[in-house]
Amino acid sequence: MNKLWAGRSLEQTAALADDFNSSIAVDSRMYRQDIAGSLAHAAMLAARGIISQADADAITDGLGGILADLESGALPVDPAAEDIHMFVEAELTRRIGDAGKRLHTARSRNDQVAVDLRLYLRGETEQTVRLIRALLRVLLDKAAAHAGDIMPGYTHLQRAQPVTFGHHMLAWAAMLRRDIGRLEDAAGRMNISPLGCCALAGTTYHTDRQMTARQLGFDGVCANSLDGVADRDYCVELAAALSLLMVHLSRCSEELILWSSWEFQFVELSDAYSTGSSIMPQKKNPDMAELTRGKTGRVVGDLMSLLTMLKGLPLAYNKDMQEDKEAIFDAFDTAKLCLQVFAPMVETMTVRTDRLRHAAAGGFINATDLADYLVGKGLPFREAYQITGRLVAHCIQTGHTLENLPLADYQAVCPAFDEALYAAVDLEACVARRVSEGGTGPDSVAAQLAELKAYLGG
Ligand code: ARG
Repeated sequence: MNKLWAGRSLEQTAALADDFNSSIAVDSRMYRQDIAGSLAHAAMLAARGIISQADADAITDGLGGILADLESGALPVDPAAEDIHMFVEAELTRRIGDAGKRLHTARSRNDQVAVDLRLYLRGETEQTVRLIRALLRVLLDKAAAHAGDIMPGYTHLQRAQPVTFGHHMLAWAAMLRRDIGRLEDAAGRMNISPLGCCALAGTTYHTDRQMTARQLGFDGVCANSLDGVADRDYCVELAAALSLLMVHLSRCSEELILWSSWEFQFVELSDAYSTGSSIMPQKKNPDMAELTRGKTGRVVGDLMSLLTMLKGLPLAYNKDMQEDKEAIFDAFDTAKLCLQVFAPMVETMTVRTDRLRHAAAGGFINATDLADYLVGKGLPFREAYQITGRLVAHCIQTGHTLENLPLADYQAVCPAFDEALYAAVDLEACVARRVSEGGTGPDSVAAQLAELKAYLGG
């Protein structure tokens, strides 16, 4: 096959080598960014008198036509092309002749691909943040609807202390907000232009890198041309942020899977976001949550691919780096897909408040409150803790709860007990007493709700 770079080689490349080398199946999705980069570059070349205005106009028109035809499908992407950059340039030259051959003056594919990828990932990050925000809205509504619904909170998956379902949803929201922060932070660092770094050393032409950077919406330019074409840190940072986002979605999924089990029945997923079994008629499976949990491995794998691909590379560009796109595109595709399914799955699930309350009534989750009650009577906490432990053991033996154990039994263990203890172990009161900032008490949950609402723009 004849290449734009044919010249030095005397013989043709093998078909197998062409296939192996080609990345167009992966990178054709960056055609808009490739054309945007070329438009900025052509305008700059003309502004600096490096090419004529007439050539720049022909390039601009030609690229506009190619963009329109790619959008409409009139121009199919040639799967045999080496990559999207070669494809667009060859098509441009086919359409406008010599002017098309001038576009690549003072540019290399090394800075071209780096520009395209940064622009493309900027858009992907924006979309992902929008999807996380949509999920946060769902969580806000769920939290508000169940702000006062008591459930057992767990540590070690053992019933620990009472919390509200709303408080739990707000914990999910807090995790996801950090993910937005990490994505935006990485995107901010990514948003500088490598255009004009050329192959690695810059160029002998008097280019204006600030002009192309401005036109493409970058905040500045890469300060070192070698680094500009060798840097893929932003892929790693974004993949790391996406990995953690997926780990969060996976932990939330795990809770939904557990909660929708027959043993818990804390939530029931809607028919629209669960599946049946091919053999067991009674089954309702949380497949969407399980797939989200399962796909987390892919995204973590993408991060590992990127780190491993980069770790031994000398500066500047190496062909290994072509592998960056498959990994980072898969990470974004997967995370966006999971977010799209996760939000309506949570939105349409039914929260079984009766089951939450029932579970909260067992498991002695008010034991800490009973110990605190004794501390209020003047006992040191460690002593109060031991007395309460003995009472719990006694309840288990006699089939009581702390709420219905007779006062005489209490006083047999510690004479400091009086009738007021029953108010202390009342679950509603236990929750209401958690007044500390960020806690599960009603005022604290209301404050967290208001803060999340303000974050989402009211
Ligand atoms: N398809 C290549 C990539 O994605 C474009 C850059 C190629 N540059 C080069 N000098 N071969 O990395």
